Parts: sequence; structure tokens; C-alpha cells
Amino acid sequence: MALIKTLEDIKEIKKANQIIARLYTDILPKYIKPGISTFEIDKIVDDYIRSQGAIPGCIGVPGIYEPFPAATCISVNEEVVHGIPNGRILQDGDIVSIDTVTILNGYYGDSARTYAVGNIDDEAKKLLEVTEKSRTIGIENAIVGNRLGDIGHAIQQYVEKNGFSVVRDYAGHGVGHKMHEDPMVPNFGRSGRGFKIQEGMVLAIEPMVNVGTYKLNMKDDGWTVVTKDGKRSAHFEHSIAIVDGKAIILSELD
Ligand code: MF3
Ligand code: CO
Repeated sequence: MALIKTLEDIKEIKKANQIIARLYTDILPKYIKPGISTFEIDKIVDDYIRSQGAIPGCIGVPGIYEPFPAATCISVNEEVVHGIPNGRILQDGDIVSIDTVTILNGYYGDSARTYAVGNIDDEAKKLLEVTEKSRTIGIENAIVGNRLGDIGHAIQQYVEKNGFSVVRDYAGHGVGHKMHEDPMVPNFGRSGRGFKIQEGMVLAIEPMVNVGTYKLNMKDDGWTVVTKDGKRSAHFEHSIAIVDGKAIILSELD
């Protein structure tokens, strides 16, 4: 069953994810500064992925009006996910979410993170910290003996305790042989509910956290998802594997 991966599969999925890890840790921080356009960031991502012998997984994904046209999703401030890279120039104080899928030897990696552009205000700092920490808490709950609802519940509790909201309309997912596989991994819910977490599962844990309402709108391009109230949103995603009963993070730099 595709839901459960072998250790060999997990090794390969990790390689696909390590490309994104290097990109996010070693390469992008040098470029994500006021004055760069999101299109230029996309070009850096695309070039790096291909230089590693991999393929960007987002290009050509079918959408409402048109296939996704770029290597990576870049979402600024009130944009939540699936932003299309364009000529927008990043300004001091912006936050920018980068969500990248790689395909290496047929295996998929998927990871996202939100960066500060220059100096950001205290609310944005807190948003980034809380969102990243909520991902950690979700991952800590991805253990054999728990159910998927325990992950979502833990993420939601932590986020709401900190005064923010968690997006309902998009969720984490199984990943590895395809970009999106079963099971769906919501970032909210009730503990003790949902699928049992099992040895060999590979999951993308990806809370999207909003400053204001969790409700969303879609822009006219059919891709870019924004918050309904125009307040800011952040997104942190890791691909993990359940090995020896607990999560190992595949998309964290080795
Ligand atoms: N990691 C994103 C997701 O799970 C990647 C989307 S690629 C896109 O939704 F092309 F569909 F935008
Ligand atoms: Co994902």
C-alpha cells in the first residue's frame, strides 16, 4: 500500500527533500532581501533544483484556469499559499512564504517556510515563531500510538493559545510517490480521531497560520489564496517519516 513506505523509499524521499533543505538554509537567505522580485527568487529555485538533477514538482500542476506556471509557490504577506511568482518587488518588512516540491528519481520532496524580508514588526515576528513552533509540535505528535487528529489538535491548540488562527481549507498530506497522497493531515481537529499513525508513513506537516480570521479568498488568477481580512499569514512545512515509532524530519538539513 502506497500509504506505507519502505526504508529504501524513505531514503530516496529524503534525498528529494534535502535539495529543498539546502535551498532554504544555504541559498535563499542570501537572496531574500528588499529589492528582489518573486520572479527572481523562482528562477534561483528552479536553477538550483535542476542543478541537483531534480525537477520542480509545481510546474504544470493543473489549476482552475491554467497549470501552475512556476517552479515554486511564493506568497507575500496576506497571501497564504500558491502565490504565482511575478514582478512584485519584496519590501523591507514583508514576510514571504516559499513552498517547493522536488522530484528526484521519481520521489517527491515537499517543504515550505516563511522568511522575513529585512526588518519585520513584532506581530510578524510572533507569527513566524508561532507557526514554526506549531509545526514542531505537530511533528512531536506524529508517533505510533497517536492518530492524525492528535497532530491537528496539538497544532490548533498552540496556535489559538497564541491568538492566531489556523487555516482549515488546506491541509498536510501523505507524500513520496506523488505530491499529494492519502492521508490528509488537517492542522485542526480533535485528539483521538482520524487514521492511526503507522510505521512507514511519510507525511507533510504544514500548518498555515493567520493573524486574523482563518477564512480565505481566491484571487482571480485561480491560484493565489489570500486571507479574507487581508491580515498576514505564514506557512512552515516539513516532510517527515515515521521510523521506530516516531517522526524523523526528511526536509531538515542533514
Ligand atoms: N506544497 C504545495 C501544496 O501542497 C505545492 C503546490 S504546487 C502547485 O499545495 F503547483 F500546486 F501550486
Ligand atoms: Co505540501
